[in-house]
Amino acid sequence: MNYSVAIDGPAGAGKSTMARRLAQAISFVYVDTGAIYRAVAYDAIRKGVDTKNPEAVASILQQLHLQLHWSAQGVQQVYLADEPITDALRLPAVSAAASQVSAIAAVRDFLLETQRAVARENNVVMDGRDIGTVVLPHADVKIFLSASAEVRAKRRWLELQAAGRTDSFEAVLQEMNERDERDRNRPIAPLRPADDAILLDTSHLTLEQSIEALLKIVQEKLKR
Ligand code: DC
Repeated sequence: MNYSVAIDGPAGAGKSTMARRLAQAISFVYVDTGAIYRAVAYDAIRKGVDTKNPEAVASILQQLHLQLHWSAQGVQQVYLADEPITDALRLPAVSAAASQVSAIAAVRDFLLETQRAVARENNVVMDGRDIGTVVLPHADVKIFLSASAEVRAKRRWLELQAAGRTDSFEAVLQEMNERDERDRNRPIAPLRPADDAILLDTSHLTLEQSIEALLKIVQEKLKR
């Protein structure tokens, strides 16, 4: 039996950085599930498919050929057929479209087994929105990470700046609020903590403090 740690929370709560560091510390495979929704969005945009149209998006799924690989450093790489697309997935246009396609039932159903298969075959730290509630309801540890919208937007803005982008902070905050709203209020798999999730608010913690708190919770839980 493999172990699984589910980490859910809103955009910019620090899930991916913290989940990656946690996975390294406990030698588990880090699975970034947001990247696979982003891959669907990326493919739709490139094919000129309206990401708000459920039938149109559903029609491209069978040809998706999504593959996940991990580098020797444990970094997840996403491929469509043999094409590496990981770097393109963080662009703001892809973020907004990913939030739209993730509200489509056919997309969620299609990606569910991909996610569960990775968790069956590996010890995983998996991050997303519905990992503790839907994808891995029997996860050994469930964490719900949060932080205020301003703090999360600031973190995402700094990330974009570091990548050489010139998006304004206001635009990033607005996009964050819109995405939160959609992710929380969608009828299927809305963003919410599982009943047995442990809540961790990182608004007033540095990254290192947040990681330390996370590691402590997970090590305690896995010991039992
Ligand atoms: O974590 P992220 O920002 O890379 O996620 C991109 C979008 O995908 C986000 O708007 C919500 C959605 N998502 C989801 O619905 N379920 C997941 N398990 C992961 C992401």
